[in-house]
Amino acid sequence: MFRSIAQVSDPANLRVAIVGSGPAGFYAAAALLASDLELDVDMIERLPTPWGLVRLGVAPDHPNIKAVSRAFEKTALNPGFRFFGNVEVGKDVEHDELLRLYDAVVYSVGAQTDRALGIPGEDLPGSWPATAFVAWYNGHPDFQDLSFDLSGERAVVIGNGNVALDVARMLALTPEELAPTDTTDAAIEAINAAGIREILVVGRRGPVQAAWTPVEVGELGELAGSDILVDPADLELDPGSEAELVAAAPTVRRNVDHLRDYAARAPAGKPRAIRLRFFSSPVAILGESKVEAIELVRNELVDGRAVATDERETIACGVVFRSVGYEGVPLPGVPFDEQTRTIPNEGGRVEPGLYAAGWIKRGPSGVIGTNKKDANETVELLLEDARAGRLSRTDEGTLEHLLEARGVEAVMYADWEAIDRAERAAGEPHGRPRIKLCSWDALLAAAK
Ligand SMILES: Cc1cc2nc3c(=O)[nH]c(=O)nc-3n(C[C@H](O)[C@H](O)[C@H](O)COP(=O)(O)OP(=O)(O)OC[C@H]3O[C@@H](n4cnc5c(N)ncnc54)[C@H](O)[C@@H]3O)c2cc1C
Ligand SMILES: NC(=O)c1ccc[n+]([C@@H]2O[C@H](COP(=O)([O-])OP(=O)(O)OC[C@H]3O[C@@H](n4cnc5c(N)ncnc54)[C@H](OP(=O)(O)O)[C@@H]3O)[C@@H](O)[C@H]2O)c1
Repeated sequence: MFRSIAQVSDPANLRVAIVGSGPAGFYAAAALLASDLELDVDMIERLPTPWGLVRLGVAPDHPNIKAVSRAFEKTALNPGFRFFGNVEVGKDVEHDELLRLYDAVVYSVGAQTDRALGIPGEDLPGSWPATAFVAWYNGHPDFQDLSFDLSGERAVVIGNGNVALDVARMLALTPEELAPTDTTDAAIEAINAAGIREILVVGRRGPVQAAWTPVEVGELGELAGSDILVDPADLELDPGSEAELVAAAPTVRRNVDHLRDYAARAPAGKPRAIRLRFFSSPVAILGESKVEAIELVRNELVDGRAVATDERETIACGVVFRSVGYEGVPLPGVPFDEQTRTIPNEGGRVEPGLYAAGWIKRGPSGVIGTNKKDANETVELLLEDARAGRLSRTDEGTLEHLLEARGVEAVMYADWEAIDRAERAAGEPHGRPRIKLCSWDALLAAAK
């Protein structure tokens, strides 16, 4: 325990453990602490830093989105709240132990890995999951040893979601655009030095079916150092897509409007270009000892599904980022549905005393705000169980005693605040929001 624990929970209070300190965990904590029940919340996080993907997923050139952490800071200052960072459930403390120590346990551990494509060459050096690249440029301490070879002229990004656009845009930013961000120095250096001329974003379906959102598509048209290229032929919609577009949400129509604008533009000859290509699936990633090319097959839409034709094309590239979604991972002893890769639940209740919120509850989709409604739903059921007398704990010990006995040095909230101050102070002279500490050693040293 780096700092002594000032707050000791009242044994008469209901005790709730929340595992995972991303948006779902913080929204759950806020809802619990706003209830009329006397309760204490302990939030357990494997990293020394809170906020989950807000710190380590959201793109560094989107500081306004990262600022949602200010709302989480307010929750963390509630007297009934304690943060236990650097504590991993399944390693430092077991699921069964939490069930005994707490009246209720809420899992909000997110989706910790990537969905695979299942094609030959997927594991060649130079073929990366977007999860790894995103974690690397955002300073996740588990991903700093990675080395991305960006020397080739073409990078390929598979997928038509917002993460694919984050990856494409980050590769396309100029030194001036990267400089005021909290992207790690290693990533800034690598992106600035990259030989990339074209970033090819490949979608298996069409522009109407893409999962991205208008603000993110619109940004592609405003990059200082990158043109945006769309083939007008991809925007000639088949009758099915035409009907889908008419019935679609206004966001889809705005996406298509942006794409029509791009298709009509003449390239300005900027140093890099993002090219959006639709109706294409990867069938193989090719290369002797590293990625040299990707083989794509042309798709047709049949009842909204992508169905392969026999039209194939091989495109030279130096690196591939697979951005086809994240995926939950099981925790020892915690129920897990292998099909959906989530914790099986109804409205967030697994059983009285055990709950889930966020991506591990519903799967890896939705923006930060989506997790608020999601966590509130879970907390409502938890409070219903508490009021009905369905919650209890069997061990009157405490997490802090258990961790101390094991020699686990938890990073408490005040310790995280020390990390935060150090990072902000390092960034300030350079006009950056922070320079992240991104090794375990540096983070734990700053926490002390
Ligand atoms: C690359 C990327 C960019 C995004 N950008 C945006 C954006 O710009 N705007 C937007 O609105 N949404 C964005 N999103 C979506 C948003 O980040 C998610 O909706 C949200 O983070 C999901 O919240 P969560 O709490 O379920 O999971 P997470 O944010 O992933 O939090 C889970 C936490 O649990 C911890 N954890 C995992 N296992 C354990 C364990 N065993 N013990 C203890 N702790 C554990 C993790 O370390 C992590 O801190 C983005 C998502 C991604 C992937
Ligand atoms: N700025 C932001 O607001 C922001 C930024 C990043 C992320 N997010 C959110 O975070 C969530 C996760 O984003 P995400 O991009 O990881 O996931 P996503 O939105 O689910 O997009 C996944 C993409 O991968 C495609 N795909 C899946 N399997 C494929 C396969 N086998 N071959 C080819 N393509 C395949 C999907 O196509 P199909 O539709 O055909 O399945 C889809 O285009 C989303 O809700 C997103 O909006 C938001």
